[in-house]
Amino acid sequence: MKTIFDKTKIKNLKLKNRLFRSATWEALADESGHFDDEIYRIYDELAAGGVGCIISGFTSVSDNDRYFGGMARLSNDGLIAEHTRLTDIVHRNDIPIIAQLALGEYQNKEISELTDSDIGNIREMFIKAADRAVLAGYDGIQIHAAHGFFLSRFISPAHNRSANPEQLIIDIAKAVSARHPDLHITIKINSSDFMYGGLDENGSMRICLACAPYLDSIEVSGNGTSVGGIRPGVNEAYFKRFALPLAENVDIPVILVGGHRSIDNMNNVLNEGGIEYLSMSRPLIREPDLIDRWQRGERSPAKCVSCNMCYRTPAHKCIFRLRGDTKRNMRLQSRPLLDSPSEPSELA
Ligand SMILES: Cc1cc2nc3c(=O)[nH]c(=O)nc-3n(C[C@H](O)[C@H](O)[C@H](O)COP(=O)(O)O)c2cc1C
Repeated sequence: MKTIFDKTKIKNLKLKNRLFRSATWEALADESGHFDDEIYRIYDELAAGGVGCIISGFTSVSDNDRYFGGMARLSNDGLIAEHTRLTDIVHRNDIPIIAQLALGEYQNKEISELTDSDIGNIREMFIKAADRAVLAGYDGIQIHAAHGFFLSRFISPAHNRSANPEQLIIDIAKAVSARHPDLHITIKINSSDFMYGGLDENGSMRICLACAPYLDSIEVSGNGTSVGGIRPGVNEAYFKRFALPLAENVDIPVILVGGHRSIDNMNNVLNEGGIEYLSMSRPLIREPDLIDRWQRGERSPAKCVSCNMCYRTPAHKCIFRLRGDTKRNMRLQSRPLLDSPSEPSELA
């Protein structure tokens, strides 16, 4: 029987439980990628809260990427010192941290307009950002190929009809692992784009199988990433349908994100098949110490109501935490469903 509290190891990652913090964009960097000090406080609180491993918010590999406001970057050496400060803070709590490397847009070009030289350039940007992540003390990198970001579009038939679009991801992963054999290399990928003509589950499975030999784990997500109105025991683990067969077909651990809220459901997911790890974002915005709370024996489900207001607040804080748990908010919290906004920013 697996449980969320098992201590495990994947390659260089020593994990005190099976729970990852899934990448969460804090929008706390200026246009050049320099951090606001608030980011250090957020990661300190998270690292002290008991999660097994933290994946950073998306971190652009390019200086000129303006895809979303407040993007962190590892696009030049001048940013390494601030990331080193961040990883030091996390490591003080003996927690590993992975940099999610992302590209939103490349010179405003559509995928169909890219030349071979553009693609070579993009590959190099990822490889160099990974070098900087190592210098900054990250324990791994995550290649962000989900949620409509550049690599997600690159592997989607809605944007790219070439025969083996996954080759770019493979080339990045191969080059990074040749340079840094001890670094954990993972990917976040859509199980489906959930759009007509986009990447579907068959296509995603094919790409995962092709990339797996060059990776140390795969995190399964999908477009419409942060589904609203999750209720414990009712509609948790909403990308499980894809992650289960994937876990049967690859030799590396599968991490499943999306809607984990209760210990029982999470343990059930782990024991239904080969899924080894679960990752969470919104519950840890609401309760950065959620895992510690559970480990202390306070086992009620995550307080997050999946209202998705965290996408709209400064520093993507939980609105309930910002306002304090007033009586009115406690009433709101107990309502089964809150409308979830559907803005492009939800595709982080
Ligand atoms: C405020 C916010 C920021 C997010 N930023 C990122 C991000 O930087 N990269 C990413 O891959 N996913 C991002 N996500 C998606 C989450 O990692 C996660 O896949 C999704 O919210 C579902 O998991 P949950 O139910 O545990 O929140 C973000 C989600 C939220 C709420």
